Amino acid sequence: MTQKGVALVTGASRGIGAAIAKKLGSQGYLVGVHYRSGKSQAEAILSEIKTAGGKGFLISFNIGNPADITNTIEGMVKEYGPVAALVNNAGITGDALLMRQSNEQIDELLNVNLRGAIVCTRECVKSMIKAKNGGSIVFISSVVGETGNAGQSVYSATKSGLIGFAKSIAQEVASRKIRSNVVTPGFIKTDMTENLTDAQKESILRSIPLERMGEPEEVANAVAFLVGTDSRYITGEVIAVNGGMST
Ligand SMILES: NC(=O)c1ccc[n+]([C@@H]2O[C@H](COP(=O)([O-])OP(=O)(O)OC[C@H]3O[C@@H](n4cnc5c(N)ncnc54)[C@H](OP(=O)(O)O)[C@@H]3O)[C@@H](O)[C@H]2O)c1
Repeated sequence: MTQKGVALVTGASRGIGAAIAKKLGSQGYLVGVHYRSGKSQAEAILSEIKTAGGKGFLISFNIGNPADITNTIEGMVKEYGPVAALVNNAGITGDALLMRQSNEQIDELLNVNLRGAIVCTRECVKSMIKAKNGGSIVFISSVVGETGNAGQSVYSATKSGLIGFAKSIAQEVASRKIRSNVVTPGFIKTDMTENLTDAQKESILRSIPLERMGEPEEVANAVAFLVGTDSRYITGEVIAVNGGMST
């Protein structure tokens, strides 16, 4: 397997991020397995990557804290080399009707889901530009960032915001051979969707033409395509992985 550069995957301790980290590890990237609180889970993911013959390292920062992001990514680049790929995956939900959402809850969603991805991108793009070797950035948005969803207005706003940001960055850095694309998952089996009630799950299933929830690996496959060179002429695009929900 040819060794590729550093691929930082945020929120890789579980769910979709863990599947992406393992997939990129299997493709020869030196994977930055990022976590915030799930250290032992992240260690387990890194060990799976290594057992499968891949390479990686652990990295931890709070996506809600811009200074923490900047300092840690600078340290990562010094230790492991320039960033070849960034997958902005870490995110939180905060489902509630807007009338019941406090300023603190709104700030947290904006800071983690949107500002966090923006700051991670700025820090990684600095490294990509300096290395003069191009790069690929993928944002994990959501089907609700395209369609909206009652009870998820702020979450949806952060996910729509990622699409506008990704398309703008694609234009800003295309001349440096850095690409920026988005994946919009539908309902994927992770901790994030585990807490839905049976009634909610039944109603969601009725809205999915392929009649099942998605697997994290199915999102990871699309991300790996966008990270790798098979997609070298694709930038500023959005790929939906949602079982047909948006058709
Ligand atoms: N699951 C779905 O159906 C679905 C659908 C559409 C979009 N998405 C999006 O896909 C992404 C991954 O979702 P998931 O379902 O895999 O989520 P998940 O299982 O809840 O995992 C979330 C990840 O984000 C990290 N994280 C959360 N807050 C953080 C913070 N402040 N700083 C750093 N890391 C933080 C967590 O790290 P620790 O555990 O280490 O704290 C964890 O690794 C999210 O952006 C989500 O919005 C998910």
